[in-house]
Amino acid sequence: MGREFIPLFEDWAATYDQTVQGFDIQYKEAFRGYDDILDAIVSRSGTHVLEFGPGTGNLTDKLLDAGKSVFGIEPSPAMRKLASDKLSGRAEFVDGDFLTFPEPPFQADTIVSSYAFHHLTDEEKRAAIKQYGKYLHLHDKIVFADTVFEDVQAYQQAIDKARSQGFYQLANDLETEHYPTLDALKEMFTAEGFAVQFTQHNDFVWIMEAIKR
Ligand SMILES: C[S@@+](CC[C@H](N)C(=O)[O-])C[C@H]1O[C@@H](n2cnc3c(N)ncnc32)[C@H](O)[C@@H]1O
Repeated sequence: MGREFIPLFEDWAATYDQTVQGFDIQYKEAFRGYDDILDAIVSRSGTHVLEFGPGTGNLTDKLLDAGKSVFGIEPSPAMRKLASDKLSGRAEFVDGDFLTFPEPPFQADTIVSSYAFHHLTDEEKRAAIKQYGKYLHLHDKIVFADTVFEDVQAYQQAIDKARSQGFYQLANDLETEHYPTLDALKEMFTAEGFAVQFTQHNDFVWIMEAIKR
């Protein structure tokens, strides 16, 4: 579920790694500090990691370099191919999504994702967190990096700013994808028994670290 944006990633896959390096002016701020954001996820992760939406495998690569085992769930065939080629078989990438996915080959102690959770509606996010809450053990973690807004006014201001800068594709993304507010996410995690903390990394991206209690 939440697969409505897959065609977009089939088209974007070949140039995605250029975008994260800041070559697309519209997304430059969202990807500012990209490597540091991925490193921050790695430093918060345990030893056995379930990753959703790995894309071209940049976070996976860093997790593997840190000695962790990773099982990647990626719904876009083009992204899966790029990630597999980049990592030369060092990690397994299988078809699936945040809500429907094959059983990992190990019991994960950490569930990670970067720049992907907003593809789910808030109802789907809630269902995903509920599922992870049942799967994870005490003190295990969810560590996600994604665009989050402090409140609905900040969300609307970001859309208005994008349009005033002539960033019409960014404005359209912000209007059509499902970016949550901090309060909405906090409520979703705490309702499923997680203690959650948020750390801001740029104008768009926050890391949320949710520990199972
Ligand atoms: C913006 S890319 C992020 C890729 C990578 N995690 C990174 O940080 O560079 C979003 C990724 O999420 C994937 N995705 C889209 N919808 C998804 C879903 N419902 N479940 C899991 N992954 C999804 C896309 O195919 C894409 O690979």
